[in-house]
Amino acid sequence: MTALSDFSSDFSSDFVVVNDVSPRDGLQNQAKILSPAERVRHIGALLDAGVRHIEIGSFVSPKAVPAMAGTDEVFKALPADAASYSALIPNRRGFDLAVQAGVESVLLVLAASETMNQKNVNMPLERSLDICAELIAAGKADSKRTIVCVATAWECPFEGIVAPAAVESVVRRCIDAGAEEIVLADTIGAADPGAVKSLLTRLVGEFGAERFGCHFHDTRGFGVADLYAALECGVRKFDASVGGLGGCPFAPGASGNVATEDVVLMLHQMGMTTGIDLPALLAAADLVGELTGAPTGGNAMTWMKRQVEKNESARLAQR
Ligand code: COA
Ligand code: ZN
Repeated sequence: MTALSDFSSDFSSDFVVVNDVSPRDGLQNQAKILSPAERVRHIGALLDAGVRHIEIGSFVSPKAVPAMAGTDEVFKALPADAASYSALIPNRRGFDLAVQAGVESVLLVLAASETMNQKNVNMPLERSLDICAELIAAGKADSKRTIVCVATAWECPFEGIVAPAAVESVVRRCIDAGAEEIVLADTIGAADPGAVKSLLTRLVGEFGAERFGCHFHDTRGFGVADLYAALECGVRKFDASVGGLGGCPFAPGASGNVATEDVVLMLHQMGMTTGIDLPALLAAADLVGELTGAPTGGNAMTWMKRQVEKNESARLAQR
């Protein structure tokens, strides 16, 4: 693992998994609900850009999140085996629907703070943890990957700062239940790089870096800084959303995820590889902007587009 204090560390040989969550986190909260066909077009543009990890939607109550109705239809229309596709679920019913649709990886969402858990999935955290154990076992029996997403891992919109000890306790429960992959989510984009480093130093020291992915929102503009702090702690798997779309309907104050194009630009410039083609990713950001009518583009979009216009896209094309 990379030493925390070693800022001269060489990342050049590292491959980083960038999981684009825009088809779920990006679209679940838009004023305009896309049709399954439009969602498939959007995912197609991500595939064209070389994105190979995609959260394609969620199997949740269509009353709670109308924009995610029809995720089964979306999944069935995607080219099989073109990428590692995952879908978010809140409960057993979501798991069963995902299995029925043929989705191989499910992301069970629970929260590190009690109030957020109740607001998001309408059950006590203790119940979510029981479901977590049940679904990890069911996933193993059914050759499904069950990833656990721990929301509000740094701050909760209802309870404020979440104590690292509380997060560790939830993570430990999931790991004891057999979780092999855990995504720590800064649901409202409140964490700063210091807080990221502090929590991850603790968790990575205890459980190893390979087990963790991170999910940052850019509400305060700290998204890539937070991601860098996590990289320093050895994390190599990150969620991001093309165009910076995103936000949870049940977490007031949550704005867009860190933009995939900002993340990929930073990683490539640092000499790391992602397999993603940046000019094609910019086209995917434009398309989702057209489809949703929402303003899209991360912080570096203007600069990146200028490189493309100047015909210097080779500077962006490194993978
Ligand atoms: N997928 C589809 N439908 C589901 C479902 C699922 N995973 N889970 C429950 N339902 C349906 C039930 O069949 C029932 O339908 P009916 O009214 O037609 O009989 C209805 O939803 C209510 O079921 P219940 O178990 O009482 O759920 P609830 O009302 O307590 O809501 C959740 C709980 C978890 C289903 C709901 O809060 C939810 O979907 N949350 C998702 C939140 C989310 O996606 N947040 C953003 C991402 S972090
Ligand atoms: Zn999110």
